[in-house]
Amino acid sequence: MDPILEGAVEVRSHLGPDDERTLADDVLDGLTRPLKELPPKHLYDARGSELFEAICELPEYYQTRTERSILQAHADDIAARTGAVELVELGSGSATKTRVLLDAMAAAGTLARYVPVDVSASTVHAVAELFADEYDGMSVYGLVADFERHLERLPEPIGPRLVPFLGGTIGNFPPGSRRRFLRSLGKVLGPDGHLLLGTDLVKDPHVIEAAYNDSTGVTAQFNLNVLHVVNRELGANFDVDAFEHVAFFDREREWIEMRLRATEPQRVRVEALDLEVDFAAREEMRTEISAKFTADRLRGDLAAAGMELVELFTDPDELFAVSLARVA
Ligand SMILES: C[S@@+](CC[C@H](N)C(=O)[O-])C[C@H]1O[C@@H](n2cnc3c(N)ncnc32)[C@H](O)[C@@H]1O
Repeated sequence: MDPILEGAVEVRSHLGPDDERTLADDVLDGLTRPLKELPPKHLYDARGSELFEAICELPEYYQTRTERSILQAHADDIAARTGAVELVELGSGSATKTRVLLDAMAAAGTLARYVPVDVSASTVHAVAELFADEYDGMSVYGLVADFERHLERLPEPIGPRLVPFLGGTIGNFPPGSRRRFLRSLGKVLGPDGHLLLGTDLVKDPHVIEAAYNDSTGVTAQFNLNVLHVVNRELGANFDVDAFEHVAFFDREREWIEMRLRATEPQRVRVEALDLEVDFAAREEMRTEISAKFTADRLRGDLAAAGMELVELFTDPDELFAVSLARVA
C-alpha cells in the first residue's frame, strides 16, 4: 500500500520524447497503409480536449448527458456495492461526470483518493487542482500517461478501487484489441476492485450519425485538429482547409467511423519522417472508430477478458449503458 497524505496533490507525467516517437511511428505506419489511418488518441492535444468538451454540450451528442443521468441514478448504489475508497479514472478528460461518483463516495464516507489518467496534460493538471480544492481530505495523484502503455505506472491501490472508463472511449478500440485492453484492466482492478465502463448502445443509425455530424461543425473541427497536431509536432504541411470531416455508421460492424476526406489531390510532406504521401481527390483517412454495444457484446467482451458483469445500468430509452464489472 502506498502511504498517502490526506489532501495531497501530485501530478506525474509519463509522456516524453518517447511519445513524440509514438506519434511519429503512428503517423509513419498510418499514412503508408492502403486505407490511411491515424489513431484517435492524437486528436486530444489541449485544443482537441477543448473541442471534445464542446462536443459534449451539443444537443445531438446524447452520450454525455445520458451517461451522466445514469450515474446520477446509480452512484450511491455503486459506491455502496463497491466500497471503493479510490477512483482511478482512465481517459478522464475534463471529468465533469466524475463528480457524481466522487460525491457519492464522499457521502458514503469512503473517498480517499482520485487518480485521473489522460494523455492530455492540460486536462489532468486542471482536474487535479480543481478536485483537490473541491473535495476536502481527498488526495489526488494525476497521471499524464497513455493508458495503452503505462498502466503499470499506476500507484499501488490503497483499498478497494473503482476504475471508471467513461464516455464510450472503449469503443475506440477495434474488437480484438478491445478485449486485450480489458484483460489488462483486470490487473489494475485487483481482487476487490470494480470497472465502471461507459458504452454507447446500438440504436437507430440516424440518431448515432447525427451525434457525429453536428450542425455547428464542432465535431468537424475536432476531427481536423489531428492535422494541426501532425503539422505542429512533426513538421508536416497538411493543408487543413483541403480536408473535410466525414462520419458514418458502419451497419455491419456496428461502429461509427470518422474520416478526413481530401477535397483535392494533395502531396503532404512530413519533415520529421522525411516522408511524402499523396492523397487523391476524395481519398479518405480514418481517424476514429467508435463501436456501439449490445448487452451481449458487453458480456462477451468482458468474459473474454476474464471479467464478469455485476450490473448493467441503462437509461429509459436504452441509448447508453454503464456496466459495473469485476474480475471473474
Ligand atoms: C471520448 S473522451 C472521454 C473523456 C471523458 N472521460 C468523458 O467521459 O467525457 C476520451 C478521453 O481519453 C483520452 N485518451 C484517449 N486515448 C488515450 C490514451 N491512449 N491514453 C490516455 N488517455 C487517452 C483523451 O485525451 C480524452 O480525454
